[in-house]
Amino acid sequence: MASETIDRATAHFAKLVEEQLARVERMKQAEPPLDFGAIRPIKVGICFGDGIGPIISKQTMRVLEGLLADEIAHGRVELRTIEGLTIENRVAHLKAIPDDVLSELKACHVILKAPTTTPEKGGPYPNIESANVAMRRALDLYANVRPVKVPKDGIDWVIFRENTEGAYILGSQGIAVTDELAFDFTAVTRQGCERIIRMAFEYAQANGVDRVTVVTKANVIKTTDGLFLDVADRIAKEYPGITWDAWYIDIMTAKLIDPKRRTQFRVMVMPNLYGDILSDEAAEFQGGVGTAGSANIGSRYAMFEAIHGSAPRMIDEGRGEFADPASLMRAGSMMLRHMGLAEKAERLDLALDVCTLLEKRVKITGRASGATAAAFTDYVLATLADPELPARHAALLG
Ligand code: IPM
Ligand code: MG
Repeated sequence: MASETIDRATAHFAKLVEEQLARVERMKQAEPPLDFGAIRPIKVGICFGDGIGPIISKQTMRVLEGLLADEIAHGRVELRTIEGLTIENRVAHLKAIPDDVLSELKACHVILKAPTTTPEKGGPYPNIESANVAMRRALDLYANVRPVKVPKDGIDWVIFRENTEGAYILGSQGIAVTDELAFDFTAVTRQGCERIIRMAFEYAQANGVDRVTVVTKANVIKTTDGLFLDVADRIAKEYPGITWDAWYIDIMTAKLIDPKRRTQFRVMVMPNLYGDILSDEAAEFQGGVGTAGSANIGSRYAMFEAIHGSAPRMIDEGRGEFADPASLMRAGSMMLRHMGLAEKAERLDLALDVCTLLEKRVKITGRASGATAAAFTDYVLATLADPELPARHAALLG
């Protein structure tokens, strides 16, 4: 009996190793990045998701349709709604992303995705994998870029989270060896570490930032985090103008709270799970996860999303219309920048700074005490239409 149990576990592990070795080979043949300047039309897929997703998507679309009116009219950009990335449809197909939805996603160049419900163990849904995680993997969106800014406190961070490996790589393929022994797996590859760390250094260089902070727990998670750190050490040598420092995730979470220390961090790069945790903490300084956007970037595809979840409780309690669409709109601005529309992205950022951080004339609280998503969006649209927006932004910054 014991040996049969061990054989089963070993066979399972052998299969995982085989799949990952094949993946390493595929990574060596990475495609060159898209040239958005040459693509007509840029196809933008919008997934409405679950819970508050359709509510905030609808509002974000109003903003995008406004900003892109010209591009849409001239066939330079096409907005497509992608149906079927809902928990009901995913459960019906017992798939994180049903096949037809995946092919529609693959027909786009960039994707804006509202939050989707992730079934949890013991919950009402079968144990299908998170649609986010599956999409990141299926489209090889290896970099999760999460900026957080609080100008008045001198906070200007960009977190580069590895997005396809680490603790997430084998998602739901852990092994319950017996009902008393369970394994999950963490795995990284040299290629996977290299591409995310390089992106962080490239970003620092392009933006005049002279320091990159690498976050691991390599004192304990020696093999995988150790590889991440080794790769960082090697890549850093290619960027002599940039100093780098290594922090452990525990003390890093503490230092983000230290007002003297935290302003020194600018660009941070880390394995998947640490990035998941640290980016929620970081977003809290800016007003919570409802205010932050997140870019998932690969060499062929890119997907932009809010960093919060689908908030089923808000829907159950009838508060859906009071959901905050700002995070998805921030994701929209990151998407515009990725598409090469930096001026429009900048304008949307200015408007969102004014509406969510600086002026806050229409406040969202998530309840009837605050504004609805629609009323907040009217405020954003009015702010976008203000010809004096840059001056207004500057004056509010003081
Ligand atoms: C995020 C989310 C996801 C993650 C969840 C919904 C699976 O927390 O995008 O940070 O863990 O990556
Ligand atoms: Mg998270």
